[in-house]
Amino acid sequence: MNEAATRELLVTLAASLFARGFSVGSAGNISVRLADGFLITPTNSSLGRLDPARLARLDAAFRPIDGDPPSKEVFMHRAFYAARAEAGAVVHLHSTMATAVACLPDVDAANPIPPLTPYFVMRVGRTMPVVPYYRPGDPAMEPAIHAAATGARAVLLANHGPVVSGKTLTDAVYAAEELEEAAKLYLLLRRETSRLLTPPQVDDLLRAFG
Ligand code: 13P
Repeated sequence: MNEAATRELLVTLAASLFARGFSVGSAGNISVRLADGFLITPTNSSLGRLDPARLARLDAAFRPIDGDPPSKEVFMHRAFYAARAEAGAVVHLHSTMATAVACLPDVDAANPIPPLTPYFVMRVGRTMPVVPYYRPGDPAMEPAIHAAATGARAVLLANHGPVVSGKTLTDAVYAAEELEEAAKLYLLLRRETSRLLTPPQVDDLLRAFG
């Protein structure tokens, strides 16, 4: 996909996330890998009203080249691309249900959402660790996210929200949506006895769908 089409797709998917309440106000940011660098949403922009021509363009070292000033969460995105060679896009949201799970002190920090449904496993993977709280935009989060992302396609930032990677922009957005629904199911079922997918069923999904 060429850069113009990538810009259009990013704006369309971001507006769709915003329209369905996955992000509010100016929360959230999205980046995508280009042949020679990255595009990222501008800081303080609403995902509902992005302008394709004003997305921030970064070089391969994540230095701004043109467009509006980049998201202050560039470090968060850089950590994912450095940790995961296959990542073509990264989506960060403050989506309500995933953020609610990120505020629970008594979850398993290595894997807070159990494998309830196949699509969560297929899109997000086997694990999604919780990264300790950092102030939004704090560069100190980069090593912690890098360490967590080495073994996982997505992480939950404590008291802040999810960060999800995907091979493509569409994959990353689908995974972020699936994560939000899985978090909702988990919160609905947390006090119930629920039937989880078994380890062999999880293995089978990852073998079949990657
Ligand atoms: P930016 O507006 O700088 O992208 O920050 C929004 C956000 O979601 C902070 O975590």
